[in-house]
Amino acid sequence: MSKISAAITAVGGYLPDYVLTNQVLETMVDTNDEWITSRTGIKERRILKEEGKGTSFLAINAAQDLIAKSGINPEEIELVIVATATPDMKAASTAAYTATQIGATNAFSYDLEAACSSFLFGMSTAARYIESGRYKKVLLIGADKNSSMINYKDRATCIIFGDGAGAVLFEPNNEGLGLQDEYLRSDGSGREFLQAKFGGSSYKTTTDALENNEHCIFQDGKTVFKNAVSKMADVSERILQRNNLNNDDISWLAAHQANKRIIDATAKRINLEDKKVMMNIQKYGNTTSATLPLLLYDYESKLKKGDKIIFAAFGGGFTWGSIYLKWAY
Ligand code: UT7
Repeated sequence: MSKISAAITAVGGYLPDYVLTNQVLETMVDTNDEWITSRTGIKERRILKEEGKGTSFLAINAAQDLIAKSGINPEEIELVIVATATPDMKAASTAAYTATQIGATNAFSYDLEAACSSFLFGMSTAARYIESGRYKKVLLIGADKNSSMINYKDRATCIIFGDGAGAVLFEPNNEGLGLQDEYLRSDGSGREFLQAKFGGSSYKTTTDALENNEHCIFQDGKTVFKNAVSKMADVSERILQRNNLNNDDISWLAAHQANKRIIDATAKRINLEDKKVMMNIQKYGNTTSATLPLLLYDYESKLKKGDKIIFAAFGGGFTWGSIYLKWAY
C-alpha cells in the first residue's frame, strides 16, 4: 500500500476593503513613502475597520471563499485549525466559532499560535492528521487582525502590519504529492524582541499597562530583522540540501511577507531567480498568519501539478522553519 501524503487541494482568501496607503500613514506618523518602500517593499495594507468584527470575520470569509470555489460540502470537513496571533478573545476558541459559522458542523476545531510562523506550523499539524489515515479533510486557516494590536503612533510597527486571511484544504494524496519535508524551530530567548504582553497571564490588566500601550505590538526591528534574515535562509538551505534539490528544481519560494529585504536574502541564499519568488507584500504588508496562504491565493492560477514549493517563515517567539511541498493540482 502506498504511503498517504497530505496535499493542498483548495485555496481561499479574504482581504478587508479598506486600503491604508503609505501616503495616509505619512499623515499619521513621521514617515514617508520612499522610506517605507525602500526599507520594506510595502506600498499599502488592508485594515478591517468595522467595529465589533475580529479575526473570525476574516477567517470565515476566507473559508467561505474556499468552499464556494472548490464546491466541497462543509459538513465533510473533520477539523478546522485557525492559525492566528490575534484570536477574537482570550478564551473561547476562534476556530470553534469559525467552524460553526461556515457550516462545518461535524468538525472539531482549535486555534494554533506561533506568531508569524503559525500557518507554517499549522501546515505540519494538518499534514499529520491526514497522514495518520484517520482524517480526510482538514481546513487550515491563517487569519490575523493585526490592526487590533497596533499603536498607530509607533512608526516601527504601524507601517508593516495589515489584516487578512487565507485558507487551504488538506486531503490525502496517493501520488506522492503534498508535504514532503519540514524543518521547524523555536528559541524562546527571542521573545523580548517582538511581543504584545497585555492580556497575557503574566501581565495584569491595569490602566497603566493600557496607557503604556502594552496591548500593542512592540518590536526591536533591527534584532528581529537580523535573526529573520539568517534563520529563514538557514532552514530553507537545509531543506534543499537534505532533499537533494538545487535552485533549478525549485518552482517557487513562498516566504513569510514581513520585509521584502528578508525575502530577497532568503531567495539569494538558495540562488533563486526573482520570477520564482512569490511576492505580495507590496499590497498587503505583513498579515502574520495569513501571509503564506495569501501567497497561494494570489499565485494559485500560476501553480502547476508537481510544482516544488519551498515555504519559509520567521516570527515572534522566536519561531521559524521551512517546509517542502509538491503542488497537487
Ligand atoms: O513578521 C515577523 C517579524 N517582523 C519582522 O520580520 C520585521 C523585521 N524588521 C524590519 O523589517 C525592519 O527592522 C524595520 C522595517 C522594522 C525597520 O527597518 P530598519 O532598516 O531596520 O530601520 P532601523 O530601525 O534601523 O532605522 C533606520 C533609520 C533610523 O534613523 P537614523 O537613526 O538612521 O537616523 C530610524 O529612526 O530609519 C528611521 N526609521 C524610520 N524612518 C521613517 C525607523 N522607522 C522609520 C519609519 N519611517 N517608519
